Amino acid sequence: MDMRNTLKTLCQAYGPTGNEGSVAQVIREMVAPVADEMTTDAMGNLIVTKKGRGQGRLMMAAHMDEIGLMVTYVEEDGFLRIDAVGGVRPQTTAFRQIRFENGVTGVVGYESAKVKNFAELTFSRLFVDIGASSREEALEKVSIGDIAHFTSDYVDMGRRVCSKSMDNRAGCAVLVEMLKGLEDAAMDVVAVFTVQEEVGLRGAKTAAWSVNPDVGVALDVTSAADHPGAPTAAMKLGQGPCVKIKDASVICTPSVVAWLEQAARDAQVPWQREVLTAGGTDTAAMQMTGAGIPAGCISLATRYIHSQGEVLQISDLEQAALLLIQAAKTGYNS
Ligand code: CO
Ligand code: ZN
Repeated sequence: MDMRNTLKTLCQAYGPTGNEGSVAQVIREMVAPVADEMTTDAMGNLIVTKKGRGQGRLMMAAHMDEIGLMVTYVEEDGFLRIDAVGGVRPQTTAFRQIRFENGVTGVVGYESAKVKNFAELTFSRLFVDIGASSREEALEKVSIGDIAHFTSDYVDMGRRVCSKSMDNRAGCAVLVEMLKGLEDAAMDVVAVFTVQEEVGLRGAKTAAWSVNPDVGVALDVTSAADHPGAPTAAMKLGQGPCVKIKDASVICTPSVVAWLEQAARDAQVPWQREVLTAGGTDTAAMQMTGAGIPAGCISLATRYIHSQGEVLQISDLEQAALLLIQAAKTGYNS
């Protein structure tokens, strides 16, 4: 398994919500040698099928999009006004470096004389400095509606790694490595690299309808509660993949939870149960498609989610891939 390189390559790709094309291209190249079929739908979801030995379809979904900032206005003096795309907090946005798809870079500043209390910072007080001195100069570099992602170094800390966009390139990396390691699945495995999760599970919604699976499993990050002052919760780095019980968008189908936990036992990987009091995942979109589809989720414990320094542990990702390979080999019986 080449989880480290796969994850690093995916984390560095440009793919804010609605602009996932280059991430999809990177994934296409990674999985082409092992895929039986690859298609991209109208939303931009990349749908990769690997045939199994029996009947039925198992959909696995990981979203490709990352949080970003969209240009809403350009000031006379060349500064850009911006709004959040996805769950971006103004406090973690100030002073960050960003990059547009065309390579234009900038840094986020805020109206320092007007903001007395940093906790009350809003997007209307933020701006982006791209080094332009006039509106004309700025508009030569960017347009209204252009979207930037945050940039960061990819930091290898040994067992753990730190980068922007672990949410959810980590889930994508697990799906890629799962596809590469999968043989002799009991049912067709349809890996869907979804779009626009961060604004409301939009890609997974249409993909689940078209794939119409017998069972769905999402892959995403979840908040690790193992740093000083973290909210009380069970999820910890290095304790194996999390089998989701619920988040704010879904209560996972009990038979899917049981099947995933059995797969962990059979694959001899540690796992932990996840109850997340907030958040949403593609699980919900799959579960509520059509007349309803049994659905669950494997989550990866991650610290500092939706920042440019998201931290997770490589072994959790490797074990998640092994768990999913086992689940596909066993197959799901409702
Ligand atoms: Co997210
Ligand atoms: Zn996510």
